[in-house]
Amino acid sequence: MANDQVFTFHNGVAVPNIGFGTWQIPNEEAYGAVTIALKTGYTHIDTALAYKNEENVGKAIKDFDISRENVFITSKLPAQTKGYEATLAAFEETVSNLDVDFLDLYLIHAPWPWDDIGKDCTEGNIESWKAMEKLYKEGKIRAIGVSNFAESDIQALMDACEIVPMANQIPFYVGRVQKSLLAFCAKHNMVVEAYSPLATGQILDSPKLKKMATKYDVTPAQLCIRYCLEKNTLPLPKSTNEERILENSQLDFTISPEDVQILDAFEDIRAK
Ligand code: A2P
Repeated sequence: MANDQVFTFHNGVAVPNIGFGTWQIPNEEAYGAVTIALKTGYTHIDTALAYKNEENVGKAIKDFDISRENVFITSKLPAQTKGYEATLAAFEETVSNLDVDFLDLYLIHAPWPWDDIGKDCTEGNIESWKAMEKLYKEGKIRAIGVSNFAESDIQALMDACEIVPMANQIPFYVGRVQKSLLAFCAKHNMVVEAYSPLATGQILDSPKLKKMATKYDVTPAQLCIRYCLEKNTLPLPKSTNEERILENSQLDFTISPEDVQILDAFEDIRAK
């Protein structure tokens, strides 16, 4: 698979360039799905306390014939958990659920609680970030970052804290180009991770996408995931189906710059 290639965070830590996403995979199904992903060759698994599947994600990794050092594990501080002590406590819960000694990447899941999107939580985010900096300096996390953060949210952390986030995980897919956020992250050497690279599956029926996929002799899903790499973002496709998990990792082709431009110009499915 193509994920023997890596992105490198600004602290030098390498992350495999495709991750297996586990959002919306229930705990009961997570063990099987992660086991298939590991068998397929994924070595980068993305979870979150809020997904309520960390226990079986961790168990699948433990039971698989792979050493902890050879799997890159990301988890996230719940969006509603803000503040220094609350962050330290949530981190302990995550490492205990996963049954690991350290995390490879820990992200603030969102700048605001999901039931209060847009709320100004700047102070809370700064306190959480300071706790994450402490955990990072203690060697309990190899890289720290954010998720769903806009430029202003990131700037607020950079103004008040020591460490520039190493990653920003955002929804990114064909038609949702996020040009200025991508440029901002690039300027600050932040890796952009693309969650929902298939627009949660909604984009796959597009006739235009299907036609282009045929030209490259790939599936629409492979075209979408490869597109993320062409845009220098790290895709986190998810599936619970063995064939599709494999399919999503077979990306050994490139999209021409002209076709990337056509994909950039796709209608954002949120507009429908
Ligand atoms: P399934 O788990 O049955 O494969 P996203 O990664 O953008 O959130 O999209 C995930 C959705 O896309 C899931 O519903 C998943 O369903 C579906 N999916 C994942 N991979 C493929 C694929 N290769 N072809 C078609 N649908 C896919």
